[in-house]
Amino acid sequence: MVQLIVNGKKLEVEADRDMPLLWLLRDELGLTGTKFGCGQALCGACTVHVNGSAVRSCQTSLGDADGATVTTIEGLSPDGNHPLQVAWRALNVPQCGYCQAGQIMQAAALLTETPDPSDDQINQVMSGNICRCGTYPRIRAAIKDAAKNIKSPGKGAAL
Ligand code: FES
Ligand code: FES
Repeated sequence: MVQLIVNGKKLEVEADRDMPLLWLLRDELGLTGTKFGCGQALCGACTVHVNGSAVRSCQTSLGDADGATVTTIEGLSPDGNHPLQVAWRALNVPQCGYCQAGQIMQAAALLTETPDPSDDQINQVMSGNICRCGTYPRIRAAIKDAAKNIKSPGKGAAL
């Protein structure tokens, strides 16, 4: 038995403790915003928050997540209006979209820890999130825009 809080909901799950958290999220809970890419912690498509930190859910076992609070892209904001989501829409960041939930979750953890990140900090923290469509310049611009809006609401391009 594994106990988790996922997007604010308490769950008790009868499952193999070695099963990846990603399997539970997508296959059992239907939270398909979180994507499967490489399965080896190499692409970042499966990024979610566990106790507020960005983790690769493909390489996080249910046993490791026992007792944790998990947030997926579906739970990042009650209305889809986290400053990053607003900036992502305003700046038309996604291309195919496959990597984008992971990108946003990684960026959200960054802004929680570092509300006004430098280019270097953004590059460093986001370097493990791969975008095969090459949307990196728009991702960086949207993170900076969201940071601006968090600091001074209404100052970014997105709001
Ligand atoms: S699917 Fe988890 S890092 Fe690629
Ligand atoms: S938008 Fe296509 S992989 Fe990133």
